[in-house]
Amino acid sequence: MSAHAYKVCMLGDFGVGKSSLVARYVRGTFSDRYLTTVGVTVDSKEIALPGRDTLTLVLWDIAGGSMLDAPSTSYLRGASALVLVADGTRETSLSSALTLLMQSRDTLPDAIAVLAVNKLDLGERWEVAATTLAELRRSLPVFETSALSGGGVDDAFAEVARRLAS
Ligand code: GTP
Ligand code: MG
Repeated sequence: MSAHAYKVCMLGDFGVGKSSLVARYVRGTFSDRYLTTVGVTVDSKEIALPGRDTLTLVLWDIAGGSMLDAPSTSYLRGASALVLVADGTRETSLSSALTLLMQSRDTLPDAIAVLAVNKLDLGERWEVAATTLAELRRSLPVFETSALSGGGVDDAFAEVARRLAS
């Protein structure tokens, strides 16, 4: 990796939209078909921050789960940042994201972390309370995203890039 390439791992429970967020961010596409990720898929995207060198986010889209297993833990090695993903229509997926964050701290004590609460377009089925998100925002940046509409997606990755660059 070049000096300005950073490994960023996508972590979260099954079906929360990790692969969909990467597809939206990197390729500008969305599919409503669910093809579960086996192992890991790696993609990358360059991002230009105002007044800084361009940096490359190397996105490791890791198979979903509510706990880190041995393969997932090994995929984390060398990561500079984590994007924890939850599905706003499934409160349990938020607990999973927070569990994964805690577990990943053993491997990556210093990695930057942001939380994406995804599927914002399904607002009528939303389970995660605004007060819960407000509470979480005290400890990490939280973005409400939709891989379907694209809402919040660039903002979430730009925040990762900004924190990596500073
Ligand atoms: P695993 O690889 O199994 O862990 O799943 P994942 O987290 O990568 O989820 P994936 O991106 O495969 O999406 C799962 C399903 O949710 C798919 O049917 C997607 O189309 C759908 N989905 C993902 N993001 C959104 C979203 O923002 N809005 C809506 N409505 N559906 C979404
Ligand atoms: Mg996936």
